[in-house]
Amino acid sequence: MITDQYSRILPVPSGALQIQRFPQECSPDGVRKNAGLMTSVHFSLVVPTYNEGGNIDKIIRVLSQILDQAMPNDYELIVVDDDSPDLTWEQAQKLTIDYPNLRVMRRVDERGLSTAVIRGWQAARGEVLGVIDGDLQHPPEVLLQLLASIESGADLAVASRHVDGGGVSDWSLTRRILSRGAQMLGLILLPRVISRVSDPMSGYFVVRRRAIADQVMSPLGYKILIEVLGRGNIERIAEVGYVFQEREAGESKVTWKQYTDYLHHLLRLRLSSGQIGQLRQTISFPLGRFIRFGLVGATGLVVDMGVLYVLYDVLGLGLTRSAIFAAELAIINNFIWNDCWTFKDLAGKQRGWRKRIKRLAKFNAICLMGLILKILLLNLFFNGLQLNAYLANLLAIALVTLWNFWFNLQLSWRVTETK
Ligand code: GDD
Ligand code: MN
Repeated sequence: MITDQYSRILPVPSGALQIQRFPQECSPDGVRKNAGLMTSVHFSLVVPTYNEGGNIDKIIRVLSQILDQAMPNDYELIVVDDDSPDLTWEQAQKLTIDYPNLRVMRRVDERGLSTAVIRGWQAARGEVLGVIDGDLQHPPEVLLQLLASIESGADLAVASRHVDGGGVSDWSLTRRILSRGAQMLGLILLPRVISRVSDPMSGYFVVRRRAIADQVMSPLGYKILIEVLGRGNIERIAEVGYVFQEREAGESKVTWKQYTDYLHHLLRLRLSSGQIGQLRQTISFPLGRFIRFGLVGATGLVVDMGVLYVLYDVLGLGLTRSAIFAAELAIINNFIWNDCWTFKDLAGKQRGWRKRIKRLAKFNAICLMGLILKILLLNLFFNGLQLNAYLANLLAIALVTLWNFWFNLQLSWRVTETK
């Protein structure tokens, strides 16, 4: 008879990254039964670690305190460590003596954040599965709100930095731009998946086991949520705002490889579209809203062309400078009309000048990126294809209108109040 303590040192699953429909100890009708050493639990939380020796004691202590109170003996913590050089796995194993709901998996042959999470979920006994970083940058207390959302019927509850109550501590502008840039790239390559949540980069969420069971996952790098959204059977999604904290010990393992992995992951999901989960669902393009956006754009066009004529033809300013001034005035004109007509319903859910200024800033940033795209297209059509300056400008504006509509809908006017 193996002592209970050893049952908490988990063997590493191998083979396909596929989660069973029922925790090993459950019979097919989902009835929990006490199978020898192990019984199933309600909630399994995976904590992926790599060199978290400075954080592991505190994260296990804090998580145990919260969950002992909320669901005594009906949860488990599963630390999945990739053979950390700082022996995080060994520290975690020692903690199993004081924390009976802690189980530890030490992977030696496999590495990577997202596969660590799935291997942990494969060994999990919970009906609800979750993931939280092991470095205390994801506030543990948010867990209870995520679990409450699942109780209220959500299939997936995501801790988001981009809804009410969300934010990042003091990320550099570069990291913010990289994070948002990655999100925009996802909105281009995989709109039906990435547009479903406000923070697709989140590594902090809980999901119903049955929503992701039986799907063979093939994640890459860090973004496990994209894999769950893309391949899972996720109907209802809840979002809870959280503020991404500063690390107390150790450092981030994010390198450029995570960014290239992310791109590779998007393309792989894109190419497997049609065979999996959400990608089969057709996205309902908001045509009515797009038509209103286009009409507003037409007023912007009048402003754009009128100012371009005055600056370029009458005052003799250079074409590019005239186009930039004309475009900026058109952007402000368009924001005003879009905020009080095209997206009036969404703006109405986010009242107040602070939120309006934030929307204007996002609108301007997206439209300025659109302006750069427009200037490139304008010069391509005018200098490259020798088109007439106004025809070139018109074509460029048409293409950029699509760009501006899609990203403003997803990022500027997205309702950020928690569902
Ligand atoms: N097992 C395992 N294997 N764990 C890993 C690995 C790995 O290869 N790489 C990182 N981890 C663990 C870290 O120990 C930490 O607990 C967690 O995964 C996050 O790693 P960080 O390197 O701290 O990532 P971050 O803080 O820059 O970004 C995190 O938060 C973002 C916002 O939610 C990650 O979770 C990102 O995926 C997420 O987008
Ligand atoms: Mn971190």
